[in-house]
Amino acid sequence: MTKQTAHAEPQTMTDIVLREMTAEDLPACHGLSQAVGWSHRLPDWTLAFECGKGWVAESSGRVVGSALYWKWGSDYSTLGLVIVSPECQGRGVGKKLLTTLLTKLEGTKVRLHATPEGKPLYKKLGFVTTGGICQHQSPELHAVPAPALAADCQFHSLGLQDVSTLTELDALSSGMQRSVLYQALLDPSSSASIEKGLMLTRNGQPAGFSMLRKFGRGYVIGPVIAASLDDAKLLVSQQLSKSAGKFVRLDVEAALGLSEWLTGLGLPCVDKPTTMYKDGEPWVCAAGWRNFSLITQAMG
Ligand SMILES: CC(C)(COP(=O)(O)OP(=O)(O)OC[C@H]1O[C@@H](n2cnc3c(N)ncnc32)[C@H](O)[C@@H]1OP(=O)(O)O)[C@@H](O)C(=O)NCCC(=O)NCCS
Repeated sequence: MTKQTAHAEPQTMTDIVLREMTAEDLPACHGLSQAVGWSHRLPDWTLAFECGKGWVAESSGRVVGSALYWKWGSDYSTLGLVIVSPECQGRGVGKKLLTTLLTKLEGTKVRLHATPEGKPLYKKLGFVTTGGICQHQSPELHAVPAPALAADCQFHSLGLQDVSTLTELDALSSGMQRSVLYQALLDPSSSASIEKGLMLTRNGQPAGFSMLRKFGRGYVIGPVIAASLDDAKLLVSQQLSKSAGKFVRLDVEAALGLSEWLTGLGLPCVDKPTTMYKDGEPWVCAAGWRNFSLITQAMG
């Protein structure tokens, strides 16, 4: 269906009001993501909202659009969960939400992951494609063997005491300062609390970490942050080895080498969102450290 036929009766934007999102809007926002076929659960929206700020578009008191941003420290921001309800698309609501968000992010470097529907809008607002994500998933994961570790390597379970270490490793991989995110993920009393977090050490030094948590239709493995592809594979395969029979998903950086390997393990690529940077400047990371698998496509 083309944009024109989807909106056979174009209307003006005069009935649309934009305002800051509150926690009370989350059920309506969850309804928006369901309306466009996304798998987010209400707790997935809650985590996103608690780590960032959002705007909603209202028509006659009904939420018809959403967009969120996350300021990760003073220099780096991500944005996502940009949705306009199908009956209101093509009326400028998405553009209005985005331009409002971008005024809040002036002075920071902004990155997003775009669907094919979102890409033209982002391009018009100055975002430039630099690469992509591969969304890999298996509805019912086959058994994956646990990896054999070298004698100098160990896995440790992550806990709240690791927030500052994870924040540092994450910042090495992207520059983003995301202690608020790691606090939420590692707090056992939080609704976003992870199922299993692993730190890989080599000679007692952190070599990377991975997290398995509930998301969407089942479980997601991400972030996976490591100093090498081999270590990322160790961290992912250890999580997969405990996940047989589950719906498991990973949103991996296409260029970093996990994608074909995941396909071989029985998790095919089902979608390929586009990575876009405002003004086209990809972020520089410290030697070796990379974010192999995202927390979510939206938060990046
Ligand atoms: C992407 C989305 C948010 C856009 O919202 P929208 O309100 O329909 O977009 P707008 O009406 O504000 O259009 C904004 C601009 O993008 C252009 N545009 C929008 N969709 C387009 C398309 N499919 N092809 C080409 N241009 C398009 C419009 O022409 C407009 O540009 P203009 O103002 O210069 O004419 C909406 O389609 C949506 O919710 N899609 C499903 C969820 C999704 O994929 N979200 C994006 C996540 S990254």
